[in-house]
Amino acid sequence: MKYGYFDDQNREYVITDPKTPVKWINYVGSLAFGGIVDHTGGALICKGDPALNRITKYIPQLPSSEFKGETLYLRSKQGHRYKVFSPYFVPTLDPYDLYECHVGLGYTRIVSEFYGIRTEVTIFVPLGDSRMISDIQMTNVSDHPMDIDAIPVVEYTHPDALKQFTNADWVPQTMQSKAYRDEAGMIILAQYPFMYKETRVNYFTSNRRVSSFESDRRRFLGDNQYGTWANPLSLQEEELSNCEALRGDNIAALLHHLGTIRPGETTRLITQLGQDESIEKALPLINRYRDAEQVERAFKEMAVFWDTYLSKLQVETPDASMNIMLNTHNPRQCHTTKNWSRYLSLYQLGLGARGIGFRDSSQDVMSILVSMPQEGKELIKKLLHVQKRDGSAMHQFNPLTMIANEGDSREVQDAPKYYGDDHLWIVLAITAYLKETGDLAFLDEVISYYEKDKDGHSLESGTVFDHVRRAIEFTQNNVGAHGLPLLGFADWNDTVNLPAGAESLFVANLYGKALLEMIELARHLGDAQAVAQYTAYYQTMKQRVNKHAWDGKWYVRYFDVDGSPVGSHSNTKGQIYANGQSWPVISGFAPPDRAKAALDAIYRRLNTRNGIKLSTPGYNRFDPAKGGITTYPPGAKENGGIFLHANPWVIIAETIIGNGDRAFEYCDQINPVAKNDRIDEFECEPYVYPQNILGDEHAQFGMARNSWLTGTASWTYQAATQYLLGIMPTYEGLQIGPCIPRKWDGFKVTREFRNAVYEIEVKNPGHVCKGVKSVKVDGRRIEGNVVAVFGDSKTHRVEVILG
Ligand code: NOJ
Repeated sequence: MKYGYFDDQNREYVITDPKTPVKWINYVGSLAFGGIVDHTGGALICKGDPALNRITKYIPQLPSSEFKGETLYLRSKQGHRYKVFSPYFVPTLDPYDLYECHVGLGYTRIVSEFYGIRTEVTIFVPLGDSRMISDIQMTNVSDHPMDIDAIPVVEYTHPDALKQFTNADWVPQTMQSKAYRDEAGMIILAQYPFMYKETRVNYFTSNRRVSSFESDRRRFLGDNQYGTWANPLSLQEEELSNCEALRGDNIAALLHHLGTIRPGETTRLITQLGQDESIEKALPLINRYRDAEQVERAFKEMAVFWDTYLSKLQVETPDASMNIMLNTHNPRQCHTTKNWSRYLSLYQLGLGARGIGFRDSSQDVMSILVSMPQEGKELIKKLLHVQKRDGSAMHQFNPLTMIANEGDSREVQDAPKYYGDDHLWIVLAITAYLKETGDLAFLDEVISYYEKDKDGHSLESGTVFDHVRRAIEFTQNNVGAHGLPLLGFADWNDTVNLPAGAESLFVANLYGKALLEMIELARHLGDAQAVAQYTAYYQTMKQRVNKHAWDGKWYVRYFDVDGSPVGSHSNTKGQIYANGQSWPVISGFAPPDRAKAALDAIYRRLNTRNGIKLSTPGYNRFDPAKGGITTYPPGAKENGGIFLHANPWVIIAETIIGNGDRAFEYCDQINPVAKNDRIDEFECEPYVYPQNILGDEHAQFGMARNSWLTGTASWTYQAATQYLLGIMPTYEGLQIGPCIPRKWDGFKVTREFRNAVYEIEVKNPGHVCKGVKSVKVDGRRIEGNVVAVFGDSKTHRVEVILG
């Protein structure tokens, strides 16, 4: 409880101490317009693409005390000087009487009290809009009247975010600001790089009269920038200079004299930071959002969106922390990863060519299908546009230009230019979409492949079905010496980069899982030939995996180009890999005795109280022949760290073999909610999963990093809802097949599925982990455990007895 608490009623996490070990953030808006707001009011905002159209300059590497992108100053006169402070705490760091940052669904609300002024600022982006609103309410909680000025400030970046840092010649010569006064005399401060002045303009404005403004950072800080953000010298003047910057570091600061506020009185100021083609074009909406009622309406609309999004699946289990995550924070994080992929966070900086990751988004999309299948389908379509004609996929793409690239493989000469796994994830995403929606017509939609002629016209298109078939054929046809799939530059583990010719067991098993999906789909479509073909592929790969990859104790993870195993007990380092064991169970390749032995080996060798390590022991010196993994010290990231994304796969595997107790133990030990009491060790936000936690070979065991944008979100959600609670969409209906801790008496789930609501109650009188004894639907017993598709907009009661 040191830094904050969960407010479940309001579905918020409330931070009560601004000095968190690292910045804790929230997301506002979407990739279309939005970004990050940190818990002390800093903001990194962009429109459409963080790399190519970034608006605010937020430098995460600066110390936490520094101004980043946006702040608000308040001031009142004390003698001859102004007392200037920020109600966000940063950057003035004044002592506060109250500080709260409410991390809400799509909004951040900072509530603070300094020097007798209570400030409540709600920061959000209205749904589908291109502006960030800060709704600022200031109350005099002292016993005397006060004259208050409010000066909200943003700092702009060049839209090409990388150029801002790599070119200090061109960028500052192009950045300009201009003040517009609208008919009502309100000031709108516009900003643009010269080349965009007629096409793309940032603006900052408010709903109160501005007495003066500043757009040049040097003037605002004063004394040739020996004034600081903590103490901007211009704020000791009665007015700002009204300078329209012709170059340099552009900011927007708007000085409002709010007048005298009596004790108990509240005054309100609403700011807008937006972007449009021109100020003229932006005016109607700017005017609309100057009206507090419209702002409140937009806020309510956003709340309705989140209510609807979350209402599609709600759980009531005996575990309170699991409920908090599954009902609010986990699906919220899934929504965030679906939106931002790995493109913009405090750790993934959205610079250069990173873009949307093919494998990442293919996995992210699977977790939001229950709540927003149409948006899921749109993202799947985008991903298919960067699949190549040979069935493999480009590794990542830029969402504005749809230009894709081969990821880190570009940096290594002679390395294969594809990743062995990328294209197979889309098979899982598409079949998940089909099972959720029943929208089989999607299979016939025609989508172009990535390759284009010199005029940018696509060279070939194919149906969605054609795309998935080619994905399968690519792996079928690209195998190495053991007949196992070639690794390419890397598989899911980006950091093991073995020389060309190496084989990946991960890809073999992912391929197996994709084939299971293809067989199920073909069966549903009544395509016997495809069933036979994919079953033959499946059996062949299963036989190869079991013939070559079992090392007597567990499954190996790779075969190097010389045929030597990686991830075997015969290795000195990197002897066992978690994915090497979980995935043969998920693919169904592992026979029962090997499945159990492999998962027990994870428990013995890789499990820690903070989660399951990706591999052990860590490599302890750089080895270019292994690749990126050896750039990390033992215990960090992929080199023996707790890479959380891989944990839910072990949970899923344990449920497949019926071990609900262990599956839950694994779930529970990584639940961030439980970290709330151990933040000085964990350090990151307790309301989202981080990507990695330092493993027990590292002296800082337990320390998390890279929060928010991680495949952990999607897979923990799928593992818990579809495997542990066992509510799984199928082509025929909703399958109920839980695998829970035996101590549970049962649980309840409300889930929407194909236009009907399923109110499910599972009872566990015999205290088993797995096994459905009976299912009643609306009071009538059914055969099996798949509840029919009703599609009748009604609510149906489902009672399940385990035993
Ligand atoms: C993070 C990457 O975004 C993801 O694609 C990859 O699978 C993991 N790192 C593991 O290397």
